Amino acid sequence: MKFYVTTPIYYINDQPHIGHCYTTIAADCLSRYHRITGKDVFFLTGTDEHGEKIAQAAEKKGMTVQQFSDQMSEIFKKMWEKLGISYSRFIRTTEVQHQNTVRQVFKKLMENGDIYQGEYAGYYCIPCEFFIPKTKIDPSKPVCPDCGREVKILKEKSYFFRLSKYEKSLLSYLEKKPEMIQPPFRLEEVTNFISQGLTDLSITRQHTVWGIESPTEEKYSIYVWFDALLNYLTGVDYADGKPNKYWPPDVQLIGKDILRFHSIIWPAILMALGLELPEKIFAHGWWTVGSEKMSKSKGNVINPVELIDRFGVDGFRYFLLREVPFGLDGEYSEEKFIKRYNSDLANDLGNLVNRTINLVEKLFNGILPSGFISSDIETAIDSTIKNVDHYMTNVSFSEALTEIWKLVGEFNKLLDKEKPWTAPIDSAKNTLSQCIAGISIISFLVYPFIPETSKKIWKILNIEESVANKIILNKDVMKIPEGTKAGKREILFTRIKI
Ligand code: MSP
Repeated sequence: MKFYVTTPIYYINDQPHIGHCYTTIAADCLSRYHRITGKDVFFLTGTDEHGEKIAQAAEKKGMTVQQFSDQMSEIFKKMWEKLGISYSRFIRTTEVQHQNTVRQVFKKLMENGDIYQGEYAGYYCIPCEFFIPKTKIDPSKPVCPDCGREVKILKEKSYFFRLSKYEKSLLSYLEKKPEMIQPPFRLEEVTNFISQGLTDLSITRQHTVWGIESPTEEKYSIYVWFDALLNYLTGVDYADGKPNKYWPPDVQLIGKDILRFHSIIWPAILMALGLELPEKIFAHGWWTVGSEKMSKSKGNVINPVELIDRFGVDGFRYFLLREVPFGLDGEYSEEKFIKRYNSDLANDLGNLVNRTINLVEKLFNGILPSGFISSDIETAIDSTIKNVDHYMTNVSFSEALTEIWKLVGEFNKLLDKEKPWTAPIDSAKNTLSQCIAGISIISFLVYPFIPETSKKIWKILNIEESVANKIILNKDVMKIPEGTKAGKREILFTRIKI
């Protein structure tokens, strides 16, 4: 079975921030999970490099836009390397293949009559790269209704995408398949917006120089959002009207601020092209500081590099995926971060592994006990695997982690109850044999979330990484061969002093 997951492509006018990291880590976690459950995964991410905003940022730096884009897309790639992001393809909208896709789609829709020529007269917000209907603006104070910044007045010849034509089809599609929009509480916002009436969308700009050229006689640059959304088609080699075997996307992760583009314009373009729509479009919430949105001008932006350097990649990944149910907003604070780190990672998981291995060394000379598992523990493991699968299918990271941590708790409880350090040796062997089996299954369950930690545990359990990478998640991973010696031991997490 295939699994196609996407992130938005990120604007490169600024450095990667916690919001970019959030979606990308989430997509990585899904990819890793579906890989270890045996699926053929395609994970697409990349950078959105056209538009006025980018051109302005390059100018400020005194660089050509091409130089600037090359430099910034590398910065994003480095960040993903640092975070262990296992993408299949990194797309840049300045790539030739993508430019060809966009022109091809434009031509096809013109032939269909879904793109026509007209004139745009209205407002445009550069930071949001969005056309704003006159009705949404007070002419005495022309600011963007979304971001509050000043807007530009435009009056120019333009090509339009016939979005209004798809109003009814979109509504009836959502009625049949409401689960396309996730979390479910976002659906109403989308259907309300469509029901208020859709207007055709201007998809060219006369004067933006940094964009894909339209395939029309008189040249225009194609509107950045029309260009950007099509990256999901370029990613699967859309050519001759046919995407490859990964189509349609199984999960498209986005932030809540770009839900309308993805749940209205994007499906309408796909309908116009006669392509299947994505299975799920999942809008996550925003990270705030206090209750405020992060912004440079407020000086409250969280620098991901700093956090990773202090708490490790896994500490960072764990916090983002565990702290807030995916879909809701989350308030970042260092205090919350440290509390999570100390209690879940250092205390619960770190201590389980530490205590178990210390005892194995002391009582069994480092030979990992194996072979015994009680039926209670086996039932707990079965239900964890089942529940984690349910939550991962629903893109509920925090809930999946909560399940896994319940199992971590079971083994800590087992140690406390059986006290292998004072028990007769046979009983100690049974207890530790179960803990080792448990640690092994847990190392695979947490792998999508904190892969570096799993690798450390595999070393301790003497499981080769190359072997581990081929394992499909199931109970067989608990079977540690008789006589296996514990491997190199590394501290998983060091408690952070407050
Ligand atoms: N280029 C467009 C997307 C085109 S996709 C066809 C874009 N780029 S962006 O760089 O501005 O934003 C990318 C993502 O980052 C969005 O999904 C947005 O929601 C997310 N975030 C930006 N700040 C955020 C937080 N503070 N918290 C969580 N995510 C936020 O939009």
